[in-house]
Amino acid sequence: MSSTSPTSDIHKGSIVLVTGATGFIGSHTVAQLLEKGYKVRGTVRNLEQASWLPALPRIKPFADKGDLELVEVPDLGVPRAFDDAVRGVSAIINIAAITSFDLDPNNVIPADIQGITSVLESAMTQPTVRALVHTSSILASTMLMPGLGHDVGPGSFNDLAVKLAWAPPPHDPSQPLLVYAAGKVESDKALWKFVDERKPKFRVNAVLPSAVLGEPLNQKHVDNSAVYVRWVTDERTDNLNGMPAFYAIDVGDAARLHVAAALDPDVNAKRMHTWGVKGNWNDVLAVVRKLRPQRKFMADMADPKQLSITTDETLYRDLLKKWFGQDDWVSLEGMVANNFKGGYLD
Ligand SMILES: NC(=O)c1ccc[n+]([C@@H]2O[C@H](COP(=O)([O-])OP(=O)(O)OC[C@H]3O[C@@H](n4cnc5c(N)ncnc54)[C@H](OP(=O)(O)O)[C@@H]3O)[C@@H](O)[C@H]2O)c1
Repeated sequence: MSSTSPTSDIHKGSIVLVTGATGFIGSHTVAQLLEKGYKVRGTVRNLEQASWLPALPRIKPFADKGDLELVEVPDLGVPRAFDDAVRGVSAIINIAAITSFDLDPNNVIPADIQGITSVLESAMTQPTVRALVHTSSILASTMLMPGLGHDVGPGSFNDLAVKLAWAPPPHDPSQPLLVYAAGKVESDKALWKFVDERKPKFRVNAVLPSAVLGEPLNQKHVDNSAVYVRWVTDERTDNLNGMPAFYAIDVGDAARLHVAAALDPDVNAKRMHTWGVKGNWNDVLAVVRKLRPQRKFMADMADPKQLSITTDETLYRDLLKKWFGQDDWVSLEGMVANNFKGGYLD
């Protein structure tokens, strides 16, 4: 691990706003910011239901000294929803999004667009803001189809997902994923349109993670978002066949990249394709069999696939090294093992 501490214009002790603080990626991002010496203001949908977050052993010492403040934003789709939350913050990490996997695009896409637009509008009112990071997704840039072989770059958008999401019924079983993807495409585009038109004085970057695996910090993470290893342990073949191959990133790495993107004064206007490790379900099965040798798991998939899409992640590996002293992504083996931590997944 490197002992040097890079310099940021986001000063330690200042407040960083994290939206979606109780989410899978959000809660890890909160923990890492606190551990780096920042104060965190986290938006949650319901303060009472969020009480587990400040009680986590990793977070409690910081919460006890007042470094974590939670504020309620019940619905990101309401205009000006973040006006109070942004007051006096030095950076904003906008992680909240509609992750309901709804069939109806009307219930997802407009709210996702409104969410990032509200955050940006509110950020513009605060001269203290130096950086804004938005969580997008690999799905905002490309379909995850084996056989699709292209290089994904800063200008890549998954317009096919938008077209399919709005197509009339009957719908394919992948409709919820297409609607989710379309929400990510449209909110990512709304972000850059706003930047083009309104020219904010703060840095703006988007992080586009692949499938996020790793340590759940609450049962709801395993039930909703940290769900991929569970597809394997629960033998959910419909889900597995719907996404036969993937790139995967550990939630710790995803959170570290959000923090680095906020802190690094030299990173601006990037769509950060942070995809991590390429794999398929047989790779995950091999790891879970090793981790749980007494348990019987499903047979290997008969016709395993691999993705052939590519992207240049050099800058993001460099950022992991620069800000966290880490040489490479957490391995697939490591992130699957992390998924079992906390005892939320048998
Ligand atoms: N997990 C992945 O594999 C993955 C991959 C690529 C990108 N992403 C993106 O990463 C971000 C975080 O996802 P996640 O995996 O951490 O999922 P998550 O655990 O479901 O987190 C989503 C967060 O958004 C909040 N939220 C949902 N609907 C909301 C609404 N209407 N108003 C206000 N807040 C709302 C949730 O609040 P509650 O805590 O109250 O539920 C939660 O904090 C999302 O932008 C997602 O699209 C995730």
